[in-house]
Amino acid sequence: MINTSALRAKPTLTGERVHLVPLGPEHTDAYFSAGLDTEVRRLTGTHRHLTYAEAREWCATRAGRTDRLDLAIIAPKDGRYLGELSIYAVAAENESAGYRIALSAIEFTGQGLGREATQLVLEYAFESIGLHRVWLYVYAFNMRAIAVYRSCGFAVEGRLRDSLLWEGRRHDALLMGVLRSGLRRT
Ligand SMILES: CC(C)(COP(=O)(O)OP(=O)(O)OC[C@H]1O[C@@H](n2cnc3c(N)ncnc32)[C@H](O)[C@@H]1OP(=O)(O)O)[C@@H](O)C(=O)NCCC(=O)NCCS
Repeated sequence: MINTSALRAKPTLTGERVHLVPLGPEHTDAYFSAGLDTEVRRLTGTHRHLTYAEAREWCATRAGRTDRLDLAIIAPKDGRYLGELSIYAVAAENESAGYRIALSAIEFTGQGLGREATQLVLEYAFESIGLHRVWLYVYAFNMRAIAVYRSCGFAVEGRLRDSLLWEGRRHDALLMGVLRSGLRRT
């Protein structure tokens, strides 16, 4: 069984170039603004526009959720909000969970921040929460994300054909998964 107290306790995870801190009310403005970024919306296949009230509600309720973990990605040097990630859909009996991450703007991508954040949270997921398996969905066109997930140990496990309809074109999604024994630290 997993260690549910590690899921309830919202940790701060400290890396060299990113800190992961509990997503909370203080992140509402940045979380809402990230939802407006057109390229991030395309990469994550986000059709729906979040209202400010929904963003506020989301950030305000993360600390109280005992069944998932939502962390903000913060720059250590100036505290700038860089994005957020989640361990969600936790199936305690199966010791498995889903993972998602989105840096909040394209200017933050391609600098190794997403990989470091992913490695930090996967270590916590496997070693502290005690998960055995973490899975995710990624669109087949998102080569940067796929490269990062592979480098952390994720392997492609399946293809969901025509999952996304975006501006008149259909795109496949890939199911990727990593087992505790397969985690790679670079
Ligand atoms: C996906 C995401 C978390 C990756 O984090 P990141 O900090 O941008 O990525 P990193 O800089 O750590 O690594 C990028 C890697 O992808 C590789 N890459 C970039 N573009 C690529 C491409 N077109 N084809 C293949 N590899 C590519 C880079 O070479 C680099 O690998 P390397 O360090 O081995 O050279 C981040 O870009 C992000 O949040 N993007 C916006 C939202 C999103 O796509 N979320 C994921 C939804 S599933």
